[in-house]
Amino acid sequence: MPQQGQPQDVLAPPATAAIFLVVTVRPGGEDTVRGLLPDIAGLTRAVGFRSPEDGLSCVTGIGAHLWDRLYGPPRPAGLHPFRTLAGAVHTAVSTPGDLLFHLRARRPDLCFELARQLMTRLAGHADVADEVHGFRYFDERDLLGFVDGTESPSGPDGVVAVTIGDDDPAFAGGSYVVVQKYLHDMRGWNALPVEAQELAMGRRKLSDIELPDAAKPPNSHVALNTIVDPDGTQHQIVRDNMPFGSIGADEFGTYFIGYVGRVDVIERMLENMFIGDPPGNHDRILDFSTAVTGGLFFVPTADFLDDPSPRLALASATAAAEPDPQPPPGGGPAADGSLGIGSLR
Ligand code: HEM
Repeated sequence: MPQQGQPQDVLAPPATAAIFLVVTVRPGGEDTVRGLLPDIAGLTRAVGFRSPEDGLSCVTGIGAHLWDRLYGPPRPAGLHPFRTLAGAVHTAVSTPGDLLFHLRARRPDLCFELARQLMTRLAGHADVADEVHGFRYFDERDLLGFVDGTESPSGPDGVVAVTIGDDDPAFAGGSYVVVQKYLHDMRGWNALPVEAQELAMGRRKLSDIELPDAAKPPNSHVALNTIVDPDGTQHQIVRDNMPFGSIGADEFGTYFIGYVGRVDVIERMLENMFIGDPPGNHDRILDFSTAVTGGLFFVPTADFLDDPSPRLALASATAAAEPDPQPPPGGGPAADGSLGIGSLR
């Protein structure tokens, strides 16, 4: 049996501050990244220990293109560039990103200091493609005014949702993460009566109680994101969205972050939202929320960050023993664009 290894702090306790840092690595910066990855845990301890009760954590994700540059094939089975999803009305865009740093704490200064230390190490070799400072808003609400995160699994269910299983033995114990930065049309949203907002979300606004199935429209956010197999098995993701904004710039947003062990689960949610289920029945909250970024990253276990060689060796040995058509030589996406790990439909 392969050792699953220690996960990164994917399931970190609730934080009140976060920085989402998406970084691109310049050509030639690979060695600098290889040198940084094993040091991230120590940097996090150094910054976090100055205020241990504030729970600083850092999760590092690696994008598909950077994976190829750092390690070559084979990639983790579900790792590929974020796929643009162009629905009839709304599009999930795919934007550049080689590394994701998800920094969380109960104080923003801890996140800020760690972000600064990380970028100091990458100076001259990487650029910040996107930086969002998120804050916890009243009652865990997003800026649309709804409590956000209620049905995100925790405890053992959370572990199951985020953990790559032994079907990808070299990378078991890791996770995948999808991020999207959404900007809200607050005027349009606030012009809706609360009852119409509740139908868009699928939950009551004040009490956060889910609408009964009979009252929940098929284009509500909750209906389209409830993924249940014909045999009744529900597939979940762990979310830790954060509001962000700028009063002066009239910018009000939600930074979506979803961790998952099976990429096809979160991709099914995105398809339901943007293409629609059935196609055309898109998520009503998209009429008031525009995705301006989109990225998919592999979140290795902590032991991989420390020393990737045992798992890379296992990945090569597994690929050699059981030739798998996905990904093809060169590590690109499968010719049919599928993951080849089964469909939930
Ligand atoms: C549920 C907000 C984007 C997946 C919810 C809920 C809110 C919310 C308020 C209901 C309470 C809860 O269970 O958390 C938002 C906002 C988004 C956004 C403001 C961006 C503008 C996304 C995206 C995905 C997603 C992109 C998936 C790719 C889910 C799931 C649930 C959920 C799985 C729980 C459904 C259930 O089992 O009841 N979201 N969300 N959300 N959202 Fe989102």
